[in-house]
Amino acid sequence: MSSGARGRFIVFEGGDGSGKSTAAAAVAARLEAAGQRVVLTREPGGTPAGEAIRALLHHRLSPWAELFAFLAARAELVSTVIRPALEGGATVICDRFAPSTFAYQVHARGLDPVVVRTANRAAAGGLEPDLVVYLDIDPAAGLARKAGEGPAVATGQEGLEFHRKVREGYLLQARDDPARWAVIDASLPAERVAELALERVLRALR
Ligand code: TMP
Repeated sequence: MSSGARGRFIVFEGGDGSGKSTAAAAVAARLEAAGQRVVLTREPGGTPAGEAIRALLHHRLSPWAELFAFLAARAELVSTVIRPALEGGATVICDRFAPSTFAYQVHARGLDPVVVRTANRAAAGGLEPDLVVYLDIDPAAGLARKAGEGPAVATGQEGLEFHRKVREGYLLQARDDPARWAVIDASLPAERVAELALERVLRALR
């Protein structure tokens, strides 16, 4: 059942170890405490099939296989979770979405942007974020934060050079779409990062 207006779609992005999952959860909790209906989800994952695809992505796949695994998880998440929640009027906060694909698979892995754009549009059903909150961090610092963690998606295991390209890929997207992207310095203390992110999200929800 629809409650009238479509909800807003907010995406948190950042390199590995940027703290975006913590910030996304903090913002979602603050909005819920203020009485908003919020759906917090993540990519890859957010559905039983998506979580199974996440486990598959612990394997190092060939680049196109990796791309389509991420897109399969996205297609499932959009059609079964994100779209229905937005249509019901909820605010959806998603920990990663298409900007990750352009930073990791296009900019860092080197896949053809035209093909990826078309495939992504099909997977996402044309859905685009209303706001992208990007937590920017020096990849060396991000990787140091993640060091010693358990098994991870293979992209997170790549070296510093790869993660430098990922950051470049994010910054290019932010530069091309400044109205929709909020860039936050993720080297700040986590509470300050969450505060800055919340400010931007509240502005987008007005
Ligand atoms: P995270 O959820 O712990 O940040 O890890 C997810 C990993 O998956 C991270 O290294 C980024 C990567 N990723 C891609 O390479 N492409 C994508 O489209 C998505 C959603 C994630």
